[in-house]
Amino acid sequence: MTARVRAARALGRILRGGAWSNVLLGNAGDDEGRVVAALTMDALRTHGLADTALGEASGRPLAKIQDEVRDLLRIAVGELDRGRTPPEIVTSASVDAVRELGHPRAAGFVNGVLRSVVSSGLPDLGAAERLGVPEWLRGRVRAEWGAAEAERFWAASAEPARVGLYGVDPESSHDRVPGVPDAWLADRPDPAFQVIDPASAAVARALEVEPGERVLDLAAAPGGKTAILLAATGPAGLVVAVDHHARRTRTAAERVPGAHWVRADGRHPPFDAGTFDRVLLDAPCSGLGTLRRRPEILRRVQESEVDRLAHLQGDLIDQAKALVKPGGRLVFSVCTVLASETTAHVDGGWREPDGLSAGRPWGKGRLLAPHLGPTDGMFVSILDS
Ligand SMILES: C[S@@+](CC[C@H](N)C(=O)[O-])C[C@H]1O[C@@H](n2cnc3c(N)ncnc32)[C@H](O)[C@@H]1O
Repeated sequence: MTARVRAARALGRILRGGAWSNVLLGNAGDDEGRVVAALTMDALRTHGLADTALGEASGRPLAKIQDEVRDLLRIAVGELDRGRTPPEIVTSASVDAVRELGHPRAAGFVNGVLRSVVSSGLPDLGAAERLGVPEWLRGRVRAEWGAAEAERFWAASAEPARVGLYGVDPESSHDRVPGVPDAWLADRPDPAFQVIDPASAAVARALEVEPGERVLDLAAAPGGKTAILLAATGPAGLVVAVDHHARRTRTAAERVPGAHWVRADGRHPPFDAGTFDRVLLDAPCSGLGTLRRRPEILRRVQESEVDRLAHLQGDLIDQAKALVKPGGRLVFSVCTVLASETTAHVDGGWREPDGLSAGRPWGKGRLLAPHLGPTDGMFVSILDS
């Protein structure tokens, strides 16, 4: 199977099968795997551009084109946009690939559409249109930040992300958690390195955990920040990591075995009020800050789901506040950028973290974002009690 056909299949699994690109393509492996990943990610990042170009060139609604053929055409447009492969090679390889995919009768159609796209040139679109940002979302970000910053955000969100590595201290492990039934604690094999975005590391550090402290991570899987908290508390401290999702909790417990993993709904936490020195609430959110790694979020995000998540975040914040000891600290973060999921939750005594120069202040917190620095989008705010 050629890389192009593999990429078309991967794109189909992401667009219609619910697969996440960072999971499906994350371990690209050999050179061909990297080509497959690049073709697929470019197609996801130019989804709006491809749909505009293909709609004009094919003269028919895109929904009328067979799914696999449409995916292959999207891959070709992403490649034409990238400009590394000569257009005639993109066209002839796509024609071969559509046959390989089992659609020989579509070969002439693919050839004609791509020739038309090449001869008319790709449409000149703004960043949000190229990405294919839904109209309602484009409008919301524009209304909150202004048109110029919104456009810079969408442009930066269409670029590949860098990664950071964070070492997990193998000494930080505990056998029991006072007040937590053993049955709630997942198994914990060996620790490892975590791949983590600098914005996530900044959030974990905003908690300013001291060795020996008792720390709660209230929405913790897959455990990227948990690992950092664990290293900061050291062997004398304690990190309790809660997540509502069973499989994610199990996997996270394998990745970060030194924490005490508890599967629970953070809206009904099984701990007494005032139990923890530090609480991190890295809340479930729409994930719009992570588009560089998962551009397909734009194909799935719904306005009603954003509203539901904002409500859930509010409930989790209420619980998190109650679990912090007097004199302790709560950090609220989300990897998204909409006001209803970020600034709307923090007023009164909330503040932005000290010493964080990346990003910019936003309301009572700090906004990190790919157009403001080399990080994912993340909102972080601190409440000292
Ligand atoms: C943004 S992710 C956390 C990422 C994690 N802190 C990290 O750095 O790796 C949000 C997590 O919240 C979990 N979650 C969703 N609803 C929850 C709830 N009601 N209580 C606890 N966890 C929840 C999800 O399963 C997801 O793993």
